Amino acid sequence: MKIQMRNLTLLLFVLLSSQLTSVFSWKKDEFRNCNQTPFCKRARNRNPGFCTLEAHDVSISAGELTAKLSPKKSHQDNPDQQDEDQVKPLILSLSVFQDGIVRLKIDEDPKLDPPKKRFEVPEVILPEFLNKKIWLQRHSTETIGGDNSPSSIVYVADGYEAVLRHDPFEVYVREKGGNRVVSLNSHGLFDFEQLRVKKEGDDWEERFKGHTDTRPYGPQSISFDVSFYGSDFVYGIPEHASSLALKPTKGPGVEESEPYRLFNLDVFEYIHDSPFGLYGSIPFMISHGKYRGTSGFFWLNAAEMQIDVLGSGWNADSGISLPSSQSRIDTLWMSEAGIVDAFFFVGPKPKDVVRQYTTVTGTPAMPQLFAAGYHQCRWNYRDEEDVENVDSKFDEHDIPYDVLWLDIEHTDGKKYFTWDPVLFPHPEEMQRKLAAKGRHMVTIVDPHIKRDESFHLHKEATQKGYYVKDASGNDYDGWCWPGSSSYPDMLNEEIRSWWADKFSFGNYVGSTPSLYIWNDMNEPSVFNGPEVTMPRDALHEGGVEHRELHNAYGYYFHMASTEGLLKRGDGKDRPFVLSRALFAGSQRHGAIWTGDNTADWDHLRVSVPMILTLGLTGISFAGADVGGFFGNPEPGLWVRWYQLGAFYPFFRGHAHQDTKRREPWLFGERNTELVRDAIHMRYMLLPYFYTLFREANVSGVPVIRPLWMEFPSDEATFSNDEAFMVGSSLLVQGVYTERAKHVSVYLPGKESWYDLRTGEVFKGGKTHKLEVSEESVPAFQRAGTIIPRKDRFRRSSTQMTNDPYTLVIALNSTQEAEGELYVDDGKSFEFAKGAYIHRRFTFSDGLLTSISIPPTSPGKARFSSECIIERIILIGYSVKPKTALIEPSNQKVEIELGPLLVKPRGGSAVTTVRKPNIPIAGDWTIKIL
Ligand SMILES: *[C@@H]1O[C@H](CO)[C@@H](O)[C@H](O)[C@H]1NC(C)=O
Ligand SMILES: *[C@@H]1O[C@H](CO)[C@@H](O)[C@H](O)[C@H]1NC(C)=O
Repeated sequence: MKIQMRNLTLLLFVLLSSQLTSVFSWKKDEFRNCNQTPFCKRARNRNPGFCTLEAHDVSISAGELTAKLSPKKSHQDNPDQQDEDQVKPLILSLSVFQDGIVRLKIDEDPKLDPPKKRFEVPEVILPEFLNKKIWLQRHSTETIGGDNSPSSIVYVADGYEAVLRHDPFEVYVREKGGNRVVSLNSHGLFDFEQLRVKKEGDDWEERFKGHTDTRPYGPQSISFDVSFYGSDFVYGIPEHASSLALKPTKGPGVEESEPYRLFNLDVFEYIHDSPFGLYGSIPFMISHGKYRGTSGFFWLNAAEMQIDVLGSGWNADSGISLPSSQSRIDTLWMSEAGIVDAFFFVGPKPKDVVRQYTTVTGTPAMPQLFAAGYHQCRWNYRDEEDVENVDSKFDEHDIPYDVLWLDIEHTDGKKYFTWDPVLFPHPEEMQRKLAAKGRHMVTIVDPHIKRDESFHLHKEATQKGYYVKDASGNDYDGWCWPGSSSYPDMLNEEIRSWWADKFSFGNYVGSTPSLYIWNDMNEPSVFNGPEVTMPRDALHEGGVEHRELHNAYGYYFHMASTEGLLKRGDGKDRPFVLSRALFAGSQRHGAIWTGDNTADWDHLRVSVPMILTLGLTGISFAGADVGGFFGNPEPGLWVRWYQLGAFYPFFRGHAHQDTKRREPWLFGERNTELVRDAIHMRYMLLPYFYTLFREANVSGVPVIRPLWMEFPSDEATFSNDEAFMVGSSLLVQGVYTERAKHVSVYLPGKESWYDLRTGEVFKGGKTHKLEVSEESVPAFQRAGTIIPRKDRFRRSSTQMTNDPYTLVIALNSTQEAEGELYVDDGKSFEFAKGAYIHRRFTFSDGLLTSISIPPTSPGKARFSSECIIERIILIGYSVKPKTALIEPSNQKVEIELGPLLVKPRGGSAVTTVRKPNIPIAGDWTIKIL
């Protein structure tokens, strides 16, 4: 939740009148645009060819290609450049890692005594990644094309090379001796403002909306152009409420817009189609095209960033021409501070790029099974009685759910880790009652600490000097929910560890092992700060300015909270911490939601590209508030949101304090039924979802994916962000308009698709205009796949543990199919030692086979399950079988023909093997005769 506010009077007024939503709406003027942001304005106005740097002193050192970058003498009179005495050579290093990853670093030379060490973002790159470095022994030189000077070339792997052109300086990755993949500074827009000592007359202050940024180190921005070759579209760089395929922001025939902004902000009532920066930032872009495939570029930098996607012809009169290629997309990257620490990923398939990126920043953590269920949240469940009522109503209405959430009002005066003594006098008992039904609770813990002398946390943080400091060195004091607040310096490891200890059962009084955590407002949100956040000249450990790490503050906070749950108790259970702010690598710490959306159709629609984009950039476990946070959804919208949200990786209903109550049974019997069905669908599919969470955990490939990730050569999918794949077997299409009668669905590929509810068959490779059913959004199982389900309805996922499975086999034109199932204890870390079951099912020639997938990392721990398969459903099987023979038990079982799916409509034959009752964990075959 968030609010933006100029002063206390206004805050009081709002709290008294409780008119939040009608009083405010998105205020563009509260936030800086590029023109009001000097580094952005400067970089955006430069012309191609501006950069005069050349690489010299090129050599191999410590297994890397190193060089110095200096301006060419003849250009030093360029008036737009810094004083000659300030321009010291920069240090460049190029290193190569396994699996087609190239890293480029450019920084000031520490030997030349810069005024200060520039900030490098710690704790994002996995330590294991550094072990994958390929120690370079040599480089070759070659004069390429019409160049006057040589280029230095190093071999990457799998037929790729990295090239450093000396003059003009340029870096790129190419296929050996051939086509380029990704390049940097091909248009000469590179610029690196070096730190200087302030001289008389230098006015470095920046003012915005009554706030002054002292900028003691002056301008220190970095910018450069990056080009993607053979590219039809670029994607990524969340977080924006915008389309999946990024739109050009500049260029001929392009309606000029702001660049995509990466600056973590608490944006009140964000709008649904905008390059405006929201709560999180991941400076990772992915390119995809029909001819070359997929590639990626990641800039590890946590300062404010702005990125232009340049429309074709943007540089028509620059005289710079690049080697021809089928298609190319140029982009401009601008950051206020930091260093160049950039990664090139060669792909060439979509899943390769995601794997390469998550090799650097980590794959998503494996959640507990309960976290994949449905979450019920509201600002606020008033008191213990309210909690008890809501909980029992779920049972009364036969709707499963796993987690009940408490927002800020549960605390004693907005002091986190405390309980309101009147409203929540028995927190442990309350949690135990939920736990008895296999349910969990989540409470909110935000980073702002109430400056209240009687609050132990504040006293301790003050005494230990743990708060972020303002520019003059005092504890920074900002305004947030509790009023006057300070913010622990999460950059500091010691402070993170101190914070983590606060989650122990002893310290967090009233918490029990079934309690998990929600981090909100961690951008950080500061109601009276510039752009509703912390001033850029605030100071962290080691003199790091807030501007240098702003986009990662929430990341470190999330990390510390997750560490807290790992440390507490016996540390056996996997943590669950939801965060609003995010940065590259957040996937290792927990789940993310898309913040404070609005109950309208546009926000329902934009939730899909937002979650898909997060998934592409590593953050698979993401969702949007179902129903919309602000405002009151019409029942039609509310139902459609549940029907779509049931397929979000993170599935939570949430609502603002001023909205009407909207628990699933409050919209009349019919709507309750529809929402129950939607939530049931999620619970049926939990075994499939959990298997996908594991796939993400191992490979980085997200749970929900753009269509083009599964159909990379089908151009019709490239900009489709209305539909998405859940794993590789399901396609889901949202319904985004009120009382829609029809919806167009594009089903890719040559094979058929089966309606998930009715089994009706549809041809692939075409767009179908379908009648919309009230009962669900269109969802299809791809022919050639096998999906594991659990069809019995329980109160929570925990209670489904011993339930039997159903396998749904959708046959393709060759009468074949395959699928996987991953099962573990759903809770502990034993899976990391090998305690899990991972099966592959294949069907071909009328034979269904179950085999074990060998463990990725061998471990001694074992997991066993008594669960059986109670039903096998074959769709699209052209044979009319009579019986099924199970081996090795040599046992015959019954077969039922005909429509058995929920509501049969058309054509597809359904064969059901009833009660085969074979163990899920065993090796067996079933011959369908
Ligand atoms: C999977 O998730 C766990 C945390 O739940 C993490 O420790 C592990 O590194 C992740 N990746 C793999 C490959 O297991
Ligand atoms: C049918 O499905 C199987 C298993 O997924 C696959 O190996 C096979 O290539 C598919 N056949 C066609 C024609 O796509």
